[in-house]
Amino acid sequence: MKLHNLKHPEETIDFRQAVIQGLGRDRGLFFPARLGRMENIPALLDLPFVPRSARILKHLIGDELSLDDLTDMVERAFDFPLAVEPVTENISTLELFHGPTLAFKDFGARFMAQCLAAFNDKDEVTILTATSGDTGAAVAHAFYRLPGIRVKILYPKGKISPLQEKLFCSLGDNIETIAIEGDFDDCQRLVKSAFAHEGIRQQLNLTSANSINIARLLAQVTYYFEAAARHRAGNLVVSVPSGNFGNLTAGLMARTLGAPIKRFVAATNVNDTVPRYLLNHLWQPRPTVATDSNAMDVAEPNNWPRIMALFGNNLNAVKAVVHGCALSDTETRTAMRELDTLGYVSEPHGAVAYCGLKNTLAEDEHGLFLGTAHPAKFMQTVESVLSRPVPLPPALERVRNAPVLSRTMTNDTRDFLHHLLG
Ligand SMILES: Cc1ncc(COP(=O)(O)O)c(C=O)c1O
Repeated sequence: MKLHNLKHPEETIDFRQAVIQGLGRDRGLFFPARLGRMENIPALLDLPFVPRSARILKHLIGDELSLDDLTDMVERAFDFPLAVEPVTENISTLELFHGPTLAFKDFGARFMAQCLAAFNDKDEVTILTATSGDTGAAVAHAFYRLPGIRVKILYPKGKISPLQEKLFCSLGDNIETIAIEGDFDDCQRLVKSAFAHEGIRQQLNLTSANSINIARLLAQVTYYFEAAARHRAGNLVVSVPSGNFGNLTAGLMARTLGAPIKRFVAATNVNDTVPRYLLNHLWQPRPTVATDSNAMDVAEPNNWPRIMALFGNNLNAVKAVVHGCALSDTETRTAMRELDTLGYVSEPHGAVAYCGLKNTLAEDEHGLFLGTAHPAKFMQTVESVLSRPVPLPPALERVRNAPVLSRTMTNDTRDFLHHLLG
C-alpha cells in the first residue's frame, strides 16, 4: 500500500512505515495514493464479519500482510460483537460500543495494536501516550499482554472519573499507568519531552499510539461494510457523530471501495466548522465550545484534509454525498428523551447522530446512526436527562472494585525523564 503525506505529496511511504511513524513531515497526514473499488461486492457482503473484514483490509494494504495474517489479526482485534438495533420503522443504530472500553475507538486501537505487534522487529518497544481518559483506556486494552510491547500511559491525577481510571489502571502486566500531579497539558508536555530526548527514544524504542494513525481508519472501514451487509435495499443513509472526522473519513473510504451506502450525514454539536463549510464554502473555525457530546468539541477537525483528498479536493463532490448538520445541547437532550420513549437509551454523541439523521431522512430512505459509546460512559448526562439510573454494563461492573495500580508523579520534566531512564 502506497500512502502519501497530504502536506508534502512527494513523501510517499508504505503501510508498515506509516503505522510506525504515525505522521509525516510538518505533521502531515498519510493517506492512500489510490483507493480502487473492490470486485463482486454482493459476494463480499455475504461473508461473515471477520473474513469479510480481512479481505477488505487485504485489498487496502496489499502485499505487506497476507490474508491469513490479516484474518488472525482481525479475529484478535475485533473479538466483540457488533449489533444493529431497530429504533423506528426506518431508522436503526449500529452499536460500536461492545468492545472492552465501550466505545468505537476499540476497533481502531485494537487493530493498530495488532499492526504494531506484527511490524515490530525490535525486542521490545514502548508505547508512550498521554490521555484525558478515553484514549488511554482503548490503548491500554488494545496492547494488554501483547508480546514485545510495554505501554506507559500518563493521565492527570484526579481529573478523570474514578470508573474511567479503573477501566485502564487496574490491568497491570505490560500496562504501566502514571497519575501526574497536574493537568492534561502537563501530561502531553512530559510525553513530548521523552520523544525529544534521543537517548530515551533509542533506549526504550519509543512509539506513539497516535489517534490519526492510518491503521485506525482502515479498521473503521470494515464496520461500514457490516452496516451495508445488514441493510441491502440500496437506500442506506449513515449518520456519523463527528468531531475529528476520522469516523466519517472511514465511511467515505468504504463507499469509495464499493460499500452500497447512498449518502452520509455529518452530525456535529455546535462546534460546527464543517457544516458551515459545506454551506458557505468558508473554513472559519471558531473557539471551541464545551457541550454534552464533549468528545466532539473540536473546532479544527484533523481528518478533514483526508476527506477532501478522497474527493480530489472538490468540495461540490463532497457535498453530493455528505450532508452536514449541527445540533445544540437542547436538541440533543430532546433527542435523548425521544429515543428513550422509543425504547432506546442513547448517550449524547449517538443522539446527535440520530437527530441529524431524522431531520434529513427522505421517505424512501433507511437511516442508520452510529452508536459510538455505551450510555454508561456518559452516565451523569444520561441520568440527568432521563431522570433515572443507568445500569452498569459488565465491563464496568467488573472493574468497579478493582485496585488502581498507578504510581503518582509530579509534573517535573526532569523527574519524569529520570524515571524513564531509571
Ligand atoms: C463517543 C464519541 N463519539 C464520536 C466521536 C467523534 O469521532 P471522530 O473524531 O472520528 O469524528 C468521538 C471521538 O472521540 C467519540 O469519543
